Amino acid sequence: MENNQYNLKKFCNFLTLILTILFFISTKQPTSAAETPQNYTNFLISKCSNTTYPTLCIKTLQPFTSYVQTDPLRLCNAALNVAIQGAHDASSTVSKLALQKGISHIEAAALKDCIYDVNDVIYELSRTLNEMGHLGDADREFKWANAKTWASAAISDAESCMDGFTGRNVSPDVTNKIRSCLFAQEKLISIALALINHLY
Ligand SMILES: *[C@@H]1O[C@H](CO)[C@@H](O)[C@H](O)[C@H]1NC(C)=O
Ligand SMILES: *[C@@H]1O[C@H](CO)[C@@H](O)[C@H](O)[C@H]1NC(C)=O
Repeated sequence: MENNQYNLKKFCNFLTLILTILFFISTKQPTSAAETPQNYTNFLISKCSNTTYPTLCIKTLQPFTSYVQTDPLRLCNAALNVAIQGAHDASSTVSKLALQKGISHIEAAALKDCIYDVNDVIYELSRTLNEMGHLGDADREFKWANAKTWASAAISDAESCMDGFTGRNVSPDVTNKIRSCLFAQEKLISIALALINHLY
């Protein structure tokens, strides 16, 4: 009698295990199998709709959909990498401008200050990216707050470059080139920051 009960118990445990495995197979398999490139694009479009520049967001992040899939953290990191690459491009644009013929001393000084600002942008964005890699740590809220703070600081740095050209005796041509270059950069940072803000 006791032996029978023991066997029944064992059988029930075994049955529970099998049902649990079947449950996981049935819930996991179809969802991951159903995700297609179209799902990844839809995810991107939906996330980008919460940023200030949805079209630019989709355009610059579309090449990363196979990496991002539907992972919001990966999307933030892709956006940060795009912004860092943009800052490197901005840095070389500003440096080239500083070497152009006909640039006055005042303009050269303003451009030099701007290069410092853009380097600060790269520094802040790199810190942000690094912090995003630690969101799995116990102090996630703290790391997440740091990431937001540093991405915002990067926006201020980009603005600081543009402000450096107002009130100084700089030709409209140089000012316009800097404005369009840095404003494009600021948009990329703003997209990354919005995605970080809406991460959780
Ligand atoms: C993928 O997209 C299809 C069509 O829009 C949708 O029916 C399906 O639920 C999506 N799959 C996932 C995992 O979101
Ligand atoms: C967009 O923002 C709203 C408000 O913060 C939020 O409820 C929603 O989940 C966000 N959508 C996405 C796709 O992150």
